[in-house]
Amino acid sequence: MRIAIVGCGYVADMYRYCLDLHRDGLVLTGVYDRDPDRLAAFARTWGDHAYASLADLLAEPGLGIVLNLTDPENHAAVTRAAIAAGIHVYCEKPLGLTLQEAQSLGEAAQAAGLRLAAAPSNVLGEQAQTLWRAVRTGTVGRVRLIYAELDDGMVHKADYRRWISRSGRRWPAEGEFETGCTFEHAGYVLTLLVAMFGPVRRVTAHSALLIPDKECDVPVHPAPDFSCGLLEFDGGILARVTNSIVAPYDHRLRVIGDGGVLSVDEPWDFAGPVRLKRTATGRLDRFLERRFPGRRGKVMPAARRVPFRGGRGRPTMDFMRGVREFADAIREGRPGRMDADLAVHITEVTEMLQHPDRFPVPAPVTSTVAAMRPMDWAQ
Ligand SMILES: NC(=O)c1ccc[n+]([C@@H]2O[C@H](COP(=O)([O-])OP(=O)(O)OC[C@H]3O[C@@H](n4cnc5c(N)ncnc54)[C@H](O)[C@@H]3O)[C@@H](O)[C@H]2O)c1
Repeated sequence: MRIAIVGCGYVADMYRYCLDLHRDGLVLTGVYDRDPDRLAAFARTWGDHAYASLADLLAEPGLGIVLNLTDPENHAAVTRAAIAAGIHVYCEKPLGLTLQEAQSLGEAAQAAGLRLAAAPSNVLGEQAQTLWRAVRTGTVGRVRLIYAELDDGMVHKADYRRWISRSGRRWPAEGEFETGCTFEHAGYVLTLLVAMFGPVRRVTAHSALLIPDKECDVPVHPAPDFSCGLLEFDGGILARVTNSIVAPYDHRLRVIGDGGVLSVDEPWDFAGPVRLKRTATGRLDRFLERRFPGRRGKVMPAARRVPFRGGRGRPTMDFMRGVREFADAIREGRPGRMDADLAVHITEVTEMLQHPDRFPVPAPVTSTVAAMRPMDWAQ
Protein backbone atom coordinates (compact mmCIF):
# COMPACT_ATOMS: atom_id res chain seq x y z
CA MET A 1 0.00 0.00 0.00
CA ARG A 2 1.42 3.38 -1.03
CA ILE A 3 1.17 5.98 1.71
CA ALA A 4 2.21 9.63 2.05
CA ILE A 5 2.69 11.71 5.20
CA VAL A 6 1.19 15.19 5.67
CA GLY A 7 2.65 17.03 8.69
CA CYS A 8 6.34 16.55 9.50
CA GLY A 9 6.21 17.60 13.15
CA TYR A 10 7.27 15.99 16.41
CA VAL A 11 5.23 12.80 16.06
CA ALA A 12 6.07 12.26 12.38
CA ASP A 13 9.58 11.13 13.36
CA MET A 14 8.07 8.40 15.55
CA TYR A 15 5.89 7.13 12.71
CA ARG A 16 8.80 7.32 10.32
CA TYR A 17 10.97 5.33 12.70
CA CYS A 18 8.33 2.59 12.86
CA LEU A 19 7.94 2.38 9.08
CA ASP A 20 10.84 -0.06 8.92
CA LEU A 21 8.70 -2.58 10.84
CA HIS A 22 6.24 -2.64 7.92
CA ARG A 23 8.45 -2.66 4.85
CA ASP A 24 6.52 -5.73 3.63
CA GLY A 25 3.19 -3.89 3.61
CA LEU A 26 3.67 -0.12 3.42
CA VAL A 27 5.59 2.02 0.91
CA LEU A 28 6.14 5.71 1.65
CA THR A 29 5.92 7.78 -1.54
CA GLY A 30 6.89 11.05 0.15
CA VAL A 31 6.08 13.70 2.72
CA TYR A 32 4.71 17.23 2.90
CA ASP A 33 4.58 20.01 5.49
CA ARG A 34 3.37 23.55 4.83
CA ASP A 35 6.35 24.82 6.81
CA PRO A 36 9.21 24.60 4.27
CA ASP A 37 11.94 24.38 6.94
CA ARG A 38 10.18 21.51 8.68
CA LEU A 39 9.65 19.76 5.37
CA ALA A 40 13.30 20.14 4.34
CA ALA A 41 14.62 18.97 7.74
CA PHE A 42 12.38 15.91 7.78
CA ALA A 43 13.07 14.91 4.17
CA ARG A 44 16.82 15.35 4.74
CA THR A 45 16.83 13.32 7.97
CA TRP A 46 14.98 10.35 6.52
CA GLY A 47 15.95 10.62 2.85
CA ASP A 48 12.31 10.97 1.77
CA HIS A 49 10.83 12.68 -1.26
CA ALA A 50 9.41 16.11 -0.35
CA TYR A 51 6.30 17.19 -2.23
CA ALA A 52 6.10 20.86 -3.17
CA SER A 53 2.45 21.14 -2.11
CA LEU A 54 -0.47 19.19 -0.69
CA ALA A 55 -1.98 19.16 -4.19
CA ASP A 56 1.19 17.50 -5.55
CA LEU A 57 1.04 14.87 -2.82
CA LEU A 58 -2.63 14.14 -3.47
CA ALA A 59 -1.93 13.82 -7.19
CA GLU A 60 0.63 11.03 -6.63
CA PRO A 61 -0.41 8.13 -8.90
CA GLY A 62 -1.58 5.06 -7.00
CA LEU A 63 -1.48 6.74 -3.60
CA GLY A 64 -3.63 4.61 -1.27
CA ILE A 65 -3.52 6.34 2.10
CA VAL A 66 -2.84 9.83 3.38
CA LEU A 67 -1.30 9.66 6.83
CA ASN A 68 -2.49 12.89 8.45
CA LEU A 69 0.02 13.87 11.14
CA THR A 70 -0.82 17.55 11.34
CA ASP A 71 -1.73 19.16 14.65
CA PRO A 72 -5.36 18.61 15.79
CA GLU A 73 -6.59 22.04 14.63
CA ASN A 74 -5.59 21.11 11.07
CA HIS A 75 -6.76 17.49 11.00
CA ALA A 76 -10.17 18.19 9.47
CA ALA A 77 -8.97 20.38 6.59
CA VAL A 78 -6.28 17.90 5.50
CA THR A 79 -8.60 14.90 5.91
CA ARG A 80 -11.25 16.66 3.82
CA ALA A 81 -8.76 17.51 1.07
CA ALA A 82 -7.61 13.88 0.88
CA ILE A 83 -11.18 12.58 0.77
CA ALA A 84 -11.98 15.07 -1.99
CA ALA A 85 -9.00 13.65 -3.91
CA GLY A 86 -10.40 10.12 -3.50
CA ILE A 87 -7.76 8.86 -1.04
CA HIS A 88 -8.27 6.89 2.20
CA VAL A 89 -7.14 8.68 5.37
CA TYR A 90 -5.51 7.52 8.57
CA CYS A 91 -5.44 10.48 10.94
CA GLU A 92 -3.59 11.10 14.19
CA LYS A 93 -6.02 11.50 17.07
CA PRO A 94 -8.38 13.12 17.56
CA LEU A 95 -10.26 12.63 14.30
CA GLY A 96 -11.95 15.99 14.97
CA LEU A 97 -12.17 18.48 17.81
CA THR A 98 -15.92 18.04 18.17
CA LEU A 99 -18.36 15.19 17.63
CA GLN A 100 -19.91 17.19 14.79
CA GLU A 101 -16.58 17.62 13.01
CA ALA A 102 -15.68 13.94 13.39
CA GLN A 103 -19.13 12.83 12.27
CA SER A 104 -19.08 15.02 9.17
CA LEU A 105 -15.66 13.62 8.20
CA GLY A 106 -16.97 10.08 8.66
CA GLU A 107 -19.96 10.89 6.49
CA ALA A 108 -17.81 12.54 3.80
CA ALA A 109 -15.58 9.44 3.61
CA GLN A 110 -18.57 7.12 3.45
CA ALA A 111 -20.24 9.18 0.72
CA ALA A 112 -17.00 9.00 -1.30
CA GLY A 113 -16.70 5.24 -0.77
CA LEU A 114 -13.46 5.74 1.17
CA ARG A 115 -12.12 4.49 4.47
CA LEU A 116 -11.20 6.65 7.42
CA ALA A 117 -9.49 5.72 10.68
CA ALA A 118 -7.73 7.47 13.53
CA ALA A 119 -4.96 6.81 16.03
CA PRO A 120 -4.14 5.80 18.68
CA SER A 121 -3.37 2.23 17.76
CA ASN A 122 -2.03 1.04 21.11
CA VAL A 123 -5.16 -1.16 21.32
CA LEU A 124 -3.43 -3.31 18.67
CA GLY A 125 -0.28 -3.63 20.78
CA GLU A 126 0.93 -6.70 22.64
CA GLN A 127 0.18 -5.31 26.09
CA ALA A 128 -3.38 -4.25 25.22
CA GLN A 129 -4.12 -7.54 23.46
CA THR A 130 -2.76 -9.48 26.45
CA LEU A 131 -4.98 -7.50 28.80
CA TRP A 132 -8.01 -7.92 26.55
CA ARG A 133 -7.43 -11.67 26.26
CA ALA A 134 -7.22 -11.95 30.06
CA VAL A 135 -10.53 -10.06 30.38
CA ARG A 136 -12.18 -12.16 27.63
CA THR A 137 -11.11 -15.43 29.14
CA GLY A 138 -12.51 -14.47 32.53
CA THR A 139 -9.20 -14.28 34.40
CA VAL A 140 -10.76 -11.92 36.96
CA GLY A 141 -14.32 -13.12 36.52
CA ARG A 142 -17.02 -10.53 35.93
CA VAL A 143 -15.56 -7.05 35.43
CA ARG A 144 -17.24 -4.38 37.54
CA LEU A 145 -15.04 -1.30 37.57
CA ILE A 146 -12.08 0.26 35.76
CA TYR A 147 -9.77 2.96 37.12
CA ALA A 148 -7.78 4.66 34.38
CA GLU A 149 -5.36 7.47 35.19
CA LEU A 150 -3.69 9.58 32.55
CA ASP A 151 -1.93 12.09 34.75
CA ASP A 152 1.20 13.51 33.20
CA GLY A 153 2.62 15.64 35.99
CA MET A 154 3.10 19.40 35.62
CA VAL A 155 4.38 19.31 32.07
CA HIS A 156 4.60 23.13 31.92
CA LYS A 157 7.31 22.93 34.64
CA ALA A 158 9.27 20.25 32.78
CA ASP A 159 12.25 20.97 30.53
CA TYR A 160 10.15 20.31 27.42
CA ARG A 161 12.05 22.97 25.49
CA ARG A 162 14.75 20.32 25.24
CA TRP A 163 12.46 17.57 23.96
CA ILE A 164 13.57 17.46 20.35
CA SER A 165 12.55 14.91 17.73
CA ARG A 166 15.07 13.19 15.48
CA SER A 167 14.60 15.68 12.65
CA GLY A 168 14.91 18.61 15.06
CA ARG A 169 11.30 19.51 15.89
CA ARG A 170 10.66 20.84 19.41
CA TRP A 171 7.79 19.24 21.33
CA PRO A 172 4.83 21.55 20.49
CA ALA A 173 3.97 22.56 24.07
CA GLU A 174 1.76 25.52 23.15
CA GLY A 175 -0.35 23.41 20.80
CA GLU A 176 -0.63 20.61 23.35
CA PHE A 177 -1.82 23.01 26.07
CA GLU A 178 -4.37 24.55 23.71
CA THR A 179 -5.69 21.20 22.47
CA GLY A 180 -5.87 19.94 26.05
CA CYS A 181 -4.46 16.86 27.74
CA THR A 182 -7.81 15.06 27.54
CA PHE A 183 -8.02 15.38 23.76
CA GLU A 184 -4.33 14.48 23.55
CA HIS A 185 -4.44 11.40 25.76
CA ALA A 186 -7.89 10.00 26.62
CA GLY A 187 -7.98 7.99 23.38
CA TYR A 188 -5.20 5.73 24.63
CA VAL A 189 -7.52 4.20 27.19
CA LEU A 190 -10.89 4.87 25.57
CA THR A 191 -10.11 2.75 22.48
CA LEU A 192 -9.02 -0.07 24.74
CA LEU A 193 -12.11 0.17 26.95
CA VAL A 194 -14.45 0.28 23.95
CA ALA A 195 -12.70 -2.72 22.39
CA MET A 196 -13.12 -4.68 25.63
CA PHE A 197 -16.55 -3.53 26.80
CA GLY A 198 -18.34 -2.08 23.77
CA PRO A 199 -19.64 1.45 23.28
CA VAL A 200 -19.83 3.93 26.13
CA ARG A 201 -23.50 4.50 26.99
CA ARG A 202 -23.33 7.45 29.43
CA VAL A 203 -20.74 9.94 30.65
CA THR A 204 -20.71 12.05 33.80
CA ALA A 205 -17.72 14.37 33.80
CA HIS A 206 -16.07 17.44 35.21
CA SER A 207 -13.16 19.40 33.76
CA ALA A 208 -11.27 22.52 34.76
CA LEU A 209 -8.33 24.69 33.89
CA LEU A 210 -6.53 24.56 37.22
CA ILE A 211 -3.32 26.34 36.18
CA PRO A 212 -4.11 28.97 33.52
CA ASP A 213 -0.54 30.31 33.40
CA LYS A 214 1.45 27.68 31.55
CA GLU A 215 4.61 29.86 31.57
CA CYS A 216 4.99 29.57 27.80
CA ASP A 217 7.30 31.63 25.61
CA VAL A 218 4.31 32.91 23.61
CA PRO A 219 0.73 33.66 24.74
CA VAL A 220 -1.47 30.56 24.86
CA HIS A 221 -5.12 29.88 25.59
CA PRO A 222 -4.98 26.58 27.41
CA ALA A 223 -7.83 24.10 27.40
CA PRO A 224 -8.82 22.35 30.65
CA ASP A 225 -5.76 20.73 32.22
CA PHE A 226 -7.85 18.35 34.33
CA SER A 227 -10.82 16.13 33.61
CA CYS A 228 -12.41 13.26 35.39
CA GLY A 229 -15.27 11.25 34.01
CA LEU A 230 -17.37 8.27 34.85
CA LEU A 231 -18.15 6.11 31.84
CA GLU A 232 -20.98 3.59 31.86
CA PHE A 233 -20.87 0.52 29.65
CA ASP A 234 -23.45 -2.19 29.05
CA GLY A 235 -23.78 -4.64 31.90
CA GLY A 236 -23.30 -1.90 34.48
CA ILE A 237 -19.53 -1.75 34.02
CA LEU A 238 -18.16 1.61 35.19
CA ALA A 239 -14.87 3.27 34.31
CA ARG A 240 -13.38 6.27 36.04
CA VAL A 241 -11.06 8.05 33.62
CA THR A 242 -8.84 10.89 34.82
CA ASN A 243 -6.69 13.10 32.59
CA SER A 244 -4.44 15.86 33.83
CA ILE A 245 -1.19 17.74 33.45
CA VAL A 246 -1.39 18.72 37.09
CA ALA A 247 -1.34 15.57 39.25
CA PRO A 248 1.90 13.53 39.41
CA TYR A 249 2.64 11.11 36.59
CA ASP A 250 0.39 8.08 36.85
CA HIS A 251 -0.80 6.09 33.85
CA ARG A 252 -2.16 3.05 35.63
CA LEU A 253 -5.08 1.21 34.12
CA ARG A 254 -6.77 -1.20 36.52
CA VAL A 255 -9.54 -3.58 35.51
CA ILE A 256 -11.33 -4.78 38.61
CA GLY A 257 -13.32 -7.99 38.55
CA ASP A 258 -14.80 -10.29 41.17
CA GLY A 259 -11.70 -12.46 41.14
CA GLY A 260 -8.98 -9.83 41.10
CA VAL A 261 -7.38 -6.88 39.40
CA LEU A 262 -5.62 -6.78 36.03
CA SER A 263 -3.33 -3.79 35.71
CA VAL A 264 -0.90 -2.07 33.40
CA ASP A 265 1.36 0.83 34.31
CA GLU A 266 1.71 2.48 30.90
CA PRO A 267 -0.89 1.86 28.18
CA TRP A 268 1.38 3.13 25.42
CA ASP A 269 4.23 0.73 26.13
CA PHE A 270 3.66 -2.29 23.88
CA ALA A 271 6.16 -4.33 25.89
CA GLY A 272 4.77 -3.34 29.29
CA PRO A 273 3.62 -6.16 31.57
CA VAL A 274 0.02 -7.00 32.44
CA ARG A 275 -0.28 -7.98 36.08
CA LEU A 276 -2.86 -10.03 37.92
CA LYS A 277 -3.56 -9.60 41.59
CA ARG A 278 -6.12 -11.87 43.17
CA THR A 279 -8.85 -10.41 45.38
CA ALA A 280 -7.75 -10.47 49.00
CA THR A 281 -10.10 -12.65 51.04
CA GLY A 282 -8.38 -14.13 54.10
CA ARG A 283 -7.16 -12.11 57.12
CA LEU A 284 -3.52 -12.36 56.09
CA ASP A 285 -4.26 -11.33 52.51
CA ARG A 286 -6.21 -8.30 53.67
CA PHE A 287 -3.44 -7.38 56.12
CA LEU A 288 -0.78 -7.63 53.40
CA GLU A 289 -2.89 -5.55 51.05
CA ARG A 290 -3.21 -2.75 53.61
CA ARG A 291 0.43 -2.97 54.64
CA PHE A 292 1.90 -3.19 51.12
CA PRO A 293 -0.59 -1.41 48.83
CA GLY A 294 2.06 -1.21 46.10
CA ARG A 295 2.07 -5.00 45.50
CA ARG A 296 0.64 -5.47 42.05
CA GLY A 297 0.65 -9.23 41.59
CA LYS A 298 2.18 -11.60 39.09
CA VAL A 299 2.96 -10.86 35.47
CA MET A 300 0.62 -12.54 32.98
CA PRO A 301 2.12 -14.39 30.00
CA ALA A 302 2.17 -12.01 27.01
CA ALA A 303 0.00 -12.82 23.97
CA ARG A 304 3.24 -12.69 21.96
CA ARG A 305 6.70 -11.16 22.10
CA VAL A 306 6.96 -7.54 20.94
CA PRO A 307 8.76 -7.63 17.57
CA PHE A 308 10.80 -4.46 18.17
CA ARG A 309 12.81 -2.79 20.91
CA GLY A 310 11.50 0.45 22.43
CA GLY A 311 13.10 2.83 24.91
CA ARG A 312 16.46 4.69 24.85
CA GLY A 313 15.07 7.30 22.49
CA ARG A 314 13.07 4.77 20.47
CA PRO A 315 9.24 4.80 20.63
CA THR A 316 7.69 2.22 22.95
CA MET A 317 4.71 1.99 20.59
CA ASP A 318 4.67 0.85 16.99
CA PHE A 319 2.95 3.99 15.70
CA MET A 320 2.57 2.44 12.26
CA ARG A 321 0.64 -0.60 13.45
CA GLY A 322 -2.71 1.15 13.06
CA VAL A 323 -1.78 2.29 9.55
CA ARG A 324 -0.76 -1.27 8.68
CA GLU A 325 -4.01 -2.71 10.01
CA PHE A 326 -5.90 -0.04 8.04
CA ALA A 327 -3.97 -0.83 4.84
CA ASP A 328 -4.45 -4.60 5.27
CA ALA A 329 -8.19 -4.15 5.87
CA ILE A 330 -8.55 -2.05 2.70
CA ARG A 331 -6.50 -4.52 0.64
CA GLU A 332 -8.43 -7.53 1.96
CA GLY A 333 -11.80 -5.76 1.63
CA ARG A 334 -12.70 -6.46 5.24
CA PRO A 335 -13.85 -4.11 8.02
CA GLY A 336 -10.91 -2.52 9.80
CA ARG A 337 -10.42 -2.93 13.52
CA MET A 338 -10.24 0.83 13.88
CA ASP A 339 -12.68 2.18 11.31
CA ALA A 340 -14.34 5.60 11.38
CA ASP A 341 -17.21 4.63 13.72
CA LEU A 342 -14.66 3.93 16.46
CA ALA A 343 -12.87 7.25 15.86
CA VAL A 344 -16.18 9.16 15.88
CA HIS A 345 -17.28 7.44 19.10
CA ILE A 346 -13.95 8.14 20.80
CA THR A 347 -14.13 11.79 19.71
CA GLU A 348 -17.62 12.14 21.20
CA VAL A 349 -16.66 10.60 24.54
CA THR A 350 -13.46 12.66 24.65
CA GLU A 351 -15.37 15.85 23.99
CA MET A 352 -17.79 14.95 26.80
CA LEU A 353 -14.83 14.50 29.13
CA GLN A 354 -12.97 17.66 28.17
CA HIS A 355 -15.99 19.92 27.66
CA PRO A 356 -18.83 18.58 29.81
CA ASP A 357 -20.28 22.12 29.72
CA ARG A 358 -21.28 21.52 26.08
CA PHE A 359 -23.60 18.71 27.13
CA PRO A 360 -26.69 18.64 29.40
CA VAL A 361 -25.60 19.64 32.90
CA PRO A 362 -25.96 17.33 35.90
CA ALA A 363 -28.37 18.38 38.67
CA PRO A 364 -26.98 21.10 40.95
CA VAL A 365 -26.65 20.32 44.67
CA THR A 366 -29.43 22.15 46.58
CA SER A 367 -28.28 21.80 50.20
CA THR A 368 -25.30 23.74 51.54
CA VAL A 369 -23.14 23.77 54.66
CA ALA A 370 -21.24 26.37 56.73
CA ALA A 371 -17.43 26.28 56.66
CA MET A 372 -15.90 24.04 59.35
CA ARG A 373 -13.34 25.41 61.80
CA PRO A 374 -10.12 23.41 62.20
CA MET A 375 -9.50 21.91 65.67
CA ASP A 376 -8.06 24.56 68.03
CA TRP A 377 -4.83 22.58 68.45
CA ALA A 378 -4.29 22.57 64.70
CA GLN A 379 -4.58 26.36 64.22
N1 LIG B 1 3.78 15.26 20.31
C1 LIG B 1 3.58 14.04 20.72
O1 LIG B 1 4.28 13.54 21.61
C2 LIG B 1 2.49 13.21 20.10
C3 LIG B 1 2.42 11.85 20.41
C4 LIG B 1 1.41 11.08 19.84
C5 LIG B 1 0.50 11.68 18.99
N2 LIG B 1 0.57 13.01 18.72
C6 LIG B 1 -0.43 13.59 17.80
O2 LIG B 1 0.21 13.80 16.56
C7 LIG B 1 -0.36 14.91 15.88
C8 LIG B 1 0.74 15.87 15.50
O3 LIG B 1 1.38 16.29 16.68
P1 LIG B 1 2.85 16.85 16.67
O4 LIG B 1 3.30 16.81 18.07
O5 LIG B 1 3.68 16.18 15.63
O6 LIG B 1 2.56 18.37 16.22
P2 LIG B 1 3.56 19.40 15.54
O7 LIG B 1 2.97 20.74 15.74
O8 LIG B 1 4.96 19.14 15.99
O9 LIG B 1 3.48 19.02 13.99
C9 LIG B 1 2.41 19.27 13.17
C10 LIG B 1 2.96 19.62 11.81
O10 LIG B 1 1.87 19.69 10.88
C11 LIG B 1 2.14 20.75 9.98
N3 LIG B 1 0.87 21.20 9.39
C12 LIG B 1 -0.20 21.75 9.99
N4 LIG B 1 -1.17 21.97 9.10
C13 LIG B 1 -0.73 21.56 7.92
C14 LIG B 1 -1.29 21.53 6.61
N5 LIG B 1 -2.51 21.99 6.38
N6 LIG B 1 -0.56 21.03 5.61
C15 LIG B 1 0.70 20.57 5.85
N7 LIG B 1 1.29 20.57 7.05
C16 LIG B 1 0.58 21.06 8.08
C17 LIG B 1 2.80 21.82 10.84
O11 LIG B 1 3.54 22.73 10.06
C18 LIG B 1 3.69 20.97 11.76
O12 LIG B 1 5.00 20.79 11.25
C19 LIG B 1 -1.41 15.49 16.83
O13 LIG B 1 -2.67 15.02 16.46
C20 LIG B 1 -1.01 14.93 18.19
O14 LIG B 1 -2.15 14.75 19.01
C21 LIG B 1 1.56 13.79 19.24
